[in-house]
Amino acid sequence: MTILITGATGNAGGAVAQSLAAQGIPGRGLVRTATRLPAGIAPVPGDLNRPETFADALSGVTGIFLLSGYERLDELLANAVRAGVRKIVVLSSSSLDGEVTNAVAGYHHATEEAVRAAGLEWTFLRPNSFMSNTLRWRDQLRAGDEVRVQFPDVPVSTIHPGDIGDVAVRALRGAHDSAVLRLTGPVALTPVEQVAILAEALGRPLTAYPMSRAETHAELHATMPEPYAAAIESFFGDGTIDETSVNTTVADVTGHPARTLQSWAQENRALFG
Ligand SMILES: NC(=O)c1ccc[n+]([C@@H]2O[C@H](COP(=O)([O-])OP(=O)(O)OC[C@H]3O[C@@H](n4cnc5c(N)ncnc54)[C@H](OP(=O)(O)O)[C@@H]3O)[C@@H](O)[C@H]2O)c1
Repeated sequence: MTILITGATGNAGGAVAQSLAAQGIPGRGLVRTATRLPAGIAPVPGDLNRPETFADALSGVTGIFLLSGYERLDELLANAVRAGVRKIVVLSSSSLDGEVTNAVAGYHHATEEAVRAAGLEWTFLRPNSFMSNTLRWRDQLRAGDEVRVQFPDVPVSTIHPGDIGDVAVRALRGAHDSAVLRLTGPVALTPVEQVAILAEALGRPLTAYPMSRAETHAELHATMPEPYAAAIESFFGDGTIDETSVNTTVADVTGHPARTLQSWAQENRALFG
């Protein structure tokens, strides 16, 4: 068994690489620039938007951990079928719980549908927002002790990327074929509560500034393309997504409880330095 991990330098793909390495399963990590990956995971150069750049690297690969939303996916999947790949585990999202009415849900839906049609085994992972999203506060934390938080009253059961990695590896090993796995963290926390947990891990007195809806709207539209900003506002401002509920899928699949934000913050405190 050899796995190709896309997004291997990122939060989720990096966790898949770590989980594979910890289990001694050989892997290849798709990277755009030279980098070191966990022992046993060989970097292979390639661009997800240009499937021809890593077609040869699919030789001998049995499973792919696939990020959503890239171009020319049909070509990538045709290359995978030709190479004898058996299983694709897609990193999709909780946004597919409801109607596919916005840009974020749209690209996850398109990816799931293309993989469904490819004739390979598949598992779709639909996680909540990641605990690693708190890294978006890093610049503010470097500048001072106040964190401006969007949607301050909306609790989210954010998920530890390591749990996504562990679930993905189970699926890549052949479990949960044709399953859609909705993944949550262990407890729903408002952004204000998340800041308090981060403060404890960092040993700093942090305060959360609750941004108004108008401030949030302005910030979102200043920092990302309009369709994505509108999707985020619809999810958390208008409540078209439910990331508050907690389920037991991580524990059911992996045999260990979903990890807490406290443990993620302790493990990653150096990143906020
Ligand atoms: N964050 C959330 O709350 C959340 C929730 C649900 C689903 N998701 C999904 O999870 C995905 C991954 O999230 P993440 O936090 O792991 O992201 P991340 O840390 O930003 O990592 C993104 C990864 O994708 C790679 N990448 C980007 N463009 C590429 C390309 N054209 N070709 C090859 N590799 C490319 C990056 O490689 P480089 O090192 O070269 O940049 C990096 O390894 C998101 O894009 C989203 O679709 C996220």
